Amino acid sequence: MAEWQKSDWRAKPRVQMPEYTDEAELKAVEAKLASYPPLVFAGEARRLKAQLGAASRGEAFLLQGGDCAESFEQFSADGIRDTFKVMLQMAMVLTYGAKVPVVKVGRMAGQFAKPRSAPTETVDGVELPSYRGDIINDLAFTPESRIPAPSKMLQAYTQAAATLNLLRAFSTGGYADVHQVHAWTLGFTEGGNAEKYRDMANRISDTLDFMKAAGVTSDRLHTLQTVDFYTSHESLLLEYEEALTRLDSTSGKWLAGSGHMIWIGDRTRQPDGAHVEFARGVQNPIGLKCGPTTTAEDLKVLMEKLNPENEAGRLTLIARFGAGSVGDHLPRLVKAVQEEGANVLWTCDPMHGNTIKSATGYKTRPFDSVLREVREFFAVHKAEGTIPGGVHFEMTGQDVTECTGGVRAVTEEDLSARYHTACDPRLNASQSLELAFLVAEELSNRDRPRAAEAV
Ligand code: PEP
Ligand code: CO
Repeated sequence: MAEWQKSDWRAKPRVQMPEYTDEAELKAVEAKLASYPPLVFAGEARRLKAQLGAASRGEAFLLQGGDCAESFEQFSADGIRDTFKVMLQMAMVLTYGAKVPVVKVGRMAGQFAKPRSAPTETVDGVELPSYRGDIINDLAFTPESRIPAPSKMLQAYTQAAATLNLLRAFSTGGYADVHQVHAWTLGFTEGGNAEKYRDMANRISDTLDFMKAAGVTSDRLHTLQTVDFYTSHESLLLEYEEALTRLDSTSGKWLAGSGHMIWIGDRTRQPDGAHVEFARGVQNPIGLKCGPTTTAEDLKVLMEKLNPENEAGRLTLIARFGAGSVGDHLPRLVKAVQEEGANVLWTCDPMHGNTIKSATGYKTRPFDSVLREVREFFAVHKAEGTIPGGVHFEMTGQDVTECTGGVRAVTEEDLSARYHTACDPRLNASQSLELAFLVAEELSNRDRPRAAEAV
């Protein structure tokens, strides 16, 4: 077989990608991006891969989360800090509750391009091309805004670089120190989750005080003062991905330099399509969304293409079926994985199968459906004897009103108050934390021996 080249996807059928009209401008932007430094480095991607491998064996758990679509307009240090903070809180809850390390991966620093269910959108009788994410066109409903512009890739790169810079500073500069477990609660609105979190934080502080008194200090503590935080996005806009792909001199393998982990969406996972062709050639950990239309046959072909060496941590299967449907689909895919003896990490995206339109006209997701899908995911894995290894959420640290429900119940009437997403509805900070407590409960049951259950 001829060696893989980063431009090979161009010869394959492509879907969900823009038709740029100005070819010269596109080429100029691609050349510029190709001359810029990559955003992430091969050693980091390999470390993440090893950690995802641990999660696939039940020795760790993946928490992946962030915006549905990052936005140029809403870009701010506070926004990044707040999402990072909520992810640290959630990770703390999961680690404390389930006693496993949590691998933290943001849908951040590159999550700009969106697949859409329809190519056009009609408002008040006017039909325009759909919005495809800020890296491609603009959300504003005017004909000019919806024209895809290559220069947006440069702005996306700049924003991704600045986001990563801040995330790296937060991860290692003291903010993520476990001793700050209380400080992360600043700005909490009171309520059920805040109290539960404070209780847990008190217990963690006590443990840390005990460790200090008992003389557990020095280099082991370094692990508690910094955190590994990785980035991920859907690898959809392949001109951008190709331009940031680099040959890693250490391994002699290609690396998608746009983010640590990239995933293939439910609409672009055609086994012979452009997106699979691109992903198969880079060494990053790869995610693959699995939806109700994913067949066992396709999954087998995809596993072989994307992970021919059956490397642990290389392939994460992100199940997104919808509450009430997990039992109809997940067992056949679990079986396909078992038949192939494939190493995969199974995670649950309880967002994309649970989008509905509210009576008030907003795209929303009921918190109860999100929770129910997570529970079904755990139940199927328990029944099959396989490992539920992570969760994938659309969430933000901001106090938005986009998903209904949760302990501080957001109603359909509330949705209009702070509905800020550029694309799909996200869990707010309180809903995210609530979900983390519920997932921790499921997780702490994960490895309980069967005999103990009967009691
Ligand atoms: C997404 O993760 O934002 C997305 C579009 O998901 P899916 O491909 O599963 O629909
Ligand atoms: Co989405």
